[in-house]
Amino acid sequence: MRWRNAKTLVTGGASFIGSHLVDALLAREAIVRVVDNLSSGTLDNLRDHVESGRVELIRADLQDAGVADRAVEGIEVVFHLAADHGGRGYLELHQEACATNMVLDGLVFAACRRHDVEKVVYASSGCVYPNRLQRDPGEVVYLMEEMVGPPYDADHLYGWAKLMGEMRLRASCAESGLKAACCRYFTVYGDRGHENHALIAMIARAFVGQSPFIVWGSGEQIRNWTHVSDIVTGTLLAAEQIDDGTAVNLGTMERTRVIDAAREVLRYTGHRADIVLDPNMPSGPLNRVADHALATRLLGWQPKVPFIDGLHRTIDWYFSTKDRDVVASGLAARLIER
Ligand SMILES: NC(=O)c1ccc[n+]([C@@H]2O[C@H](COP(=O)([O-])OP(=O)(O)OC[C@H]3O[C@@H](n4cnc5c(N)ncnc54)[C@H](O)[C@@H]3O)[C@@H](O)[C@H]2O)c1
Repeated sequence: MRWRNAKTLVTGGASFIGSHLVDALLAREAIVRVVDNLSSGTLDNLRDHVESGRVELIRADLQDAGVADRAVEGIEVVFHLAADHGGRGYLELHQEACATNMVLDGLVFAACRRHDVEKVVYASSGCVYPNRLQRDPGEVVYLMEEMVGPPYDADHLYGWAKLMGEMRLRASCAESGLKAACCRYFTVYGDRGHENHALIAMIARAFVGQSPFIVWGSGEQIRNWTHVSDIVTGTLLAAEQIDDGTAVNLGTMERTRVIDAAREVLRYTGHRADIVLDPNMPSGPLNRVADHALATRLLGWQPKVPFIDGLHRTIDWYFSTKDRDVVASGLAARLIER
C-alpha cells in the first residue's frame, strides 16, 4: 500500500491516539480527513493541521443521519477509532454509554461497504480478552489472539462492543469481500493522553502535589503500558498487510505492576507523598499483558519504546504543558469522565 496521496479517514481523529495517527499519515503524505464530534477528542490535538488546511475536519456525530456516508465518501482507507470510551473508571461506571459503540461501529462499517472503501482498520482493545484469564497476578500469562473464543467473556460492555465490532468486520470480509484489519490496543499512553487513564492520572496527581497519593485497587494489577508511537506504527502496518479482518495484539510484553509505576512517577517527579490504596475504585483485570508474536510475524512489528523511557517522556510532556490550577480544579471528575 502506498500512503502518498492515499485518501484516508480517521474517525475519532481528534483523540489522543487518533491525532497521533493523523500526524503519522501526514508525515507519509497521505490525504487526511477526520470526523469527530469532539465529545472526548479536542481540536487542540489537530489545530495546526486544520488551520493549515492539511486536514479536512468534519465536526459531526457519526450516529447522526448521513454523517458516516459523508465521512467515508471518496475514501480509500478508513481508520475507525471513534468510540464512546474512557479509562477504567469510565468504562466500568458508564456501560450504557459504551454499549452505543455497537451501533456506531455498525453505521461506519455499513457506510464503508456502500462506498467501496478499500480497507477498514478497526481500533479494538485488550478488553476483548476473557476476564477469567486475567484474574491471578501471580500467574505469568501473555494473552494470545486465539484465546478470544467461546465461551466469550469480554471486559464490560465496552469490551463486548469491541468484540462484536471485530466479529462483524470478519463476517463482512468473508461474506462481502470487504478488506479489514483489527488492532487490539493495550493500555496506551503518551503525550496527549487523558487523566481518565491510570498512568496519566498518576502523573496528574503528582503534578498537583496530591498527598496522600491515591492509587486505585490493590496496586498489584499488572499492565503492559504501550507507547502511542508504537501503537500508531502497528496500526499503519496492519493497514498495509492484513486484509481478512484478522486481529493482532498491539501491546508490549513488559509486565509492570501499578504500584511500581506509581512509585516511579513519585521518584521521577520528586513528589514526596505516602501512597494510599483505594480498593473501592474500579481497578480492572489483575493481570493483562499481551503476547505480540502474531504482530511480529504478520507485520514485523515490535514495540520500540521501553516503558521506563516512555513514562519519563510522558511526565516531561505533562509537566511542561499543563497548568496546575486547571488540573487541580477538575481532577476528581476527569478521573472517571471522558
Ligand atoms: N487509550 C487506550 O488505552 C485504548 C486502548 C484500547 C483501545 N482504544 C481505542 O482507541 C480509540 C481511540 O482512543 P483514545 O484513547 O485515543 O481516545 P478517545 O476514546 O477519546 O477517542 C475517541 C474519539 O472518538 C470521538 N467520538 C466519540 N464518539 C463519536 C461519535 N459518535 N461521532 C464522532 N466522533 C466520536 C471522540 O471525540 C474522540 O476523539 C478508541 O476506539 C478506543 O476505544 C484505546
